[in-house]
Amino acid sequence: MTKGRGSPAARAEELRRLIDDANQAYYVADAPTISDAEYDRLFRELQALEAEHPDLQTPDSPTQRVGAEPASSLAKHPHLRPMLSLANAFDEEELVAWEERNARNSAEVRTAGYTAEVKIDGAAVNLTYRDGRFVVGATRGNGVIGENVTANLRTIADVPLALRGKGWPALMEVRGEVYLPYEMFKRTNMQRERDGESLYANPRNAAAGALRQLDPESTRRRRLRMFAFSVEPIEGKLPARTHWETLDLLEAWGFKVEPHRQRFESLADVQGAIPSFEALLGVLPFQADGVVIKVDPLALHTELGVVGGRDPRWAIARKFAPEVAVTRLRAIRINVGRTGALNPYAELEPVEVSGVTVSAATLHNEELIATKDIREGDWVEVIRAGEVIPQIVAPITARREGTERIFRMPDECPRCGTPVERPADEAMRYCPNASCPGRVLEGIVHFAGRDAMDIRGLGYERVRQLLAAGLISDVADLYALTVEQLVELDRFAEQSAEQLVNAIAASKAQPLSLLLFGIGIRHVGKTVAQLLARRFGTLDALMAASAETVAAVSGIGPTIADAVTSFFDEPRNQALIERLRKAGLTLAEPTGASSEGPLSGKAYVLTGTLPTLARARATELIERAGGRVAGSVSRKTDAVVAGDDAGSKLDKARTLGVEVIDEAELLRRVGETA
Ligand code: IVH
Repeated sequence: MTKGRGSPAARAEELRRLIDDANQAYYVADAPTISDAEYDRLFRELQALEAEHPDLQTPDSPTQRVGAEPASSLAKHPHLRPMLSLANAFDEEELVAWEERNARNSAEVRTAGYTAEVKIDGAAVNLTYRDGRFVVGATRGNGVIGENVTANLRTIADVPLALRGKGWPALMEVRGEVYLPYEMFKRTNMQRERDGESLYANPRNAAAGALRQLDPESTRRRRLRMFAFSVEPIEGKLPARTHWETLDLLEAWGFKVEPHRQRFESLADVQGAIPSFEALLGVLPFQADGVVIKVDPLALHTELGVVGGRDPRWAIARKFAPEVAVTRLRAIRINVGRTGALNPYAELEPVEVSGVTVSAATLHNEELIATKDIREGDWVEVIRAGEVIPQIVAPITARREGTERIFRMPDECPRCGTPVERPADEAMRYCPNASCPGRVLEGIVHFAGRDAMDIRGLGYERVRQLLAAGLISDVADLYALTVEQLVELDRFAEQSAEQLVNAIAASKAQPLSLLLFGIGIRHVGKTVAQLLARRFGTLDALMAASAETVAAVSGIGPTIADAVTSFFDEPRNQALIERLRKAGLTLAEPTGASSEGPLSGKAYVLTGTLPTLARARATELIERAGGRVAGSVSRKTDAVVAGDDAGSKLDKARTLGVEVIDEAELLRRVGETA
């Protein structure tokens, strides 16, 4: 076999790389790089090539993710070690009681540290690896004997066929959860509806169903995913002392590990984080039904043991009361945002979700309404997680009566009737009328908001009242309000009027970054506002800058730059700013980033594409934690944060022995959970 360019071997290698890259883009970056048809073409070419030259086929070739013949029935698979289950804790008391019990066995648990992980609601699987290669995979079954679904598991892109890195035990079982993201769950059910098949009740059932298909090709089409969460070494040792280290190892070997995991020193710390975990569960793109808390040192796992051969003492699932409610969506209505964006929301028949009555839910944009196929009159599942705004999980299509109405976005602003604009590259429609009453109200409330000018006591109700009384018509008018004017109004007493006037006066000292965010320039969120304020220092400097100069700020692209310069080119905006200046606003950014924080005095370098954080956001987090972001790696660099496709900076860091960390570690260091 020749190995030169154009040879079958070279082509096979190239195809494997193209397909792996496409898988990576599709599954990991969530940004497909090629069409499904193109993917299938590459795939078939590789299959044909391997069929013609069997010696070219490698065990970890992407073609090996399918290919096994449909099984007539699933064979039994005895697990090498039993697959355990988890005891539940439904409230904080049960968590505390769990630690008490453990402490009686081994007092160390109180100080040994815990990990907390998202409890993924899918189907448990057990993957056997011999010498770093995937050999058998099975469902949990009764915990002792499962069903052999190896061929199906091979179709899941998250299941590594050959491990990366080193240090794995010669024979081991990796445990994880196979799941179906909501998006694919919906597509599966839509397909089943078209095919006249019964619908899956939830993503867990759909995942379990897909995993147990007799034909691996059917499994592959479902695009299942998997997160790994533990290892059972059978031959050889696991080079980890703690569960936390185990999860990092799994990741290094090429498994996906749920990224929101956290390590805590004490149970009290775990408890402090429970509300944010609960809030997180409602917004993840897949179903999750709790938090798994595990005693961190592996030695304690052995010491604490297992209850009744089923529930390990060293782990517990903190579950939350069900938060899904079912109600009727009366109508889809539109709120006109401060930038003019038409935001659709659902008006619901009031329903109680986790103790709160909900009568509206966000719908984000028309695309979401279309992909979830939400119709007016539908019965819908509503969730409310923590403090997050209620969201619609999905319509219950089985309960449709035929009277439901498909929603169309209006072509005119529902508040002022102006024809809407839809920028070619955006999912949103905008009302272009700056004096649209909907925009004015939202704009002033936003300006006064906590993240912007922070004017206490100026919420929707008061802004509506001030607008209706004709006392204000834009944000600059706020600074002319007097106590005498306010006490004339309903629900204002001398004291509350004074408080509001004082709060407005205090906001004059807010830095430029908060003013830029507050004033409502399209595409200028908190991060961009900070970048601009830091780069230009004063509003005058920013207003004098050309679009090119603005676009040259790292983290800011041409779209934002255009939005910024056209905002300041507008005479009415210039007039507004003159009035703010006369009112005595700062219009400048104090220099010097935060000097205190977990990264005080540290220099970090960013390279490659991080999984979730945009560069600007990563920079912001580092600076807020007191650190500094440098452009190049030197011996003085404290750490390099590397993402996908990291290039020479990563090589340099390795050469110089500079610490390299990933996004998850960065988030941990700056104290962000998610
Ligand atoms: S640990 C101690 N960790 O939940 C061994 N399980 O209700 C038990 N699950 O069978 C597993 N996410 O299928 C563990 N991060 C996680 C998990 C997790 C989901 C599932 C798993 C288990 C079931 C128990």
